[in-house]
Amino acid sequence: MKKKYNEKTAIDIIDKVGARPEMLVQILHAFIKKFSYIDEQAIRLIAKKINLSRAEIHGVVSFYHDFRTEPTGEKVIKICQAEACQSMGSRELTKYAEKILDVNMHQTSKDMKLTLEPVYCLGNCALSPAIMIDEKVYGKVNEEKLNDLVENL
Ligand code: FES
Repeated sequence: MKKKYNEKTAIDIIDKVGARPEMLVQILHAFIKKFSYIDEQAIRLIAKKINLSRAEIHGVVSFYHDFRTEPTGEKVIKICQAEACQSMGSRELTKYAEKILDVNMHQTSKDMKLTLEPVYCLGNCALSPAIMIDEKVYGKVNEEKLNDLVENL
């Protein structure tokens, strides 16, 4: 499970990655890996540490899909919405996932157990539709396979 944001860990991350403005994207990735999201306090801290304005950091955070500003659930399920997967039914699979998981795309369940997110190509187009659960990619996912994967979470 991801750690809740805390300043000491955040400072360690910035120092480890490199407290320089050109390291901003790498710092944000490291924060996502550790905390699952970029907290407002994190933006303030990064701005101070690498001498950029908060607006500059907000600009980068809002530009990239992966830089969430809300914590995720324990598990993150991403369903590919790019062309190859769409042609193989990823939209229908998404609707089915929303129904069985009782959570809409871009949202986290109330119990914070899981988050459902879109992704745009997982490099697994030959086996579309593809999904990713945490860091693992699954191909040729139909309703039955999704049921099995969800049951095993
Ligand atoms: S389009 Fe879905 S994995 Fe490439």
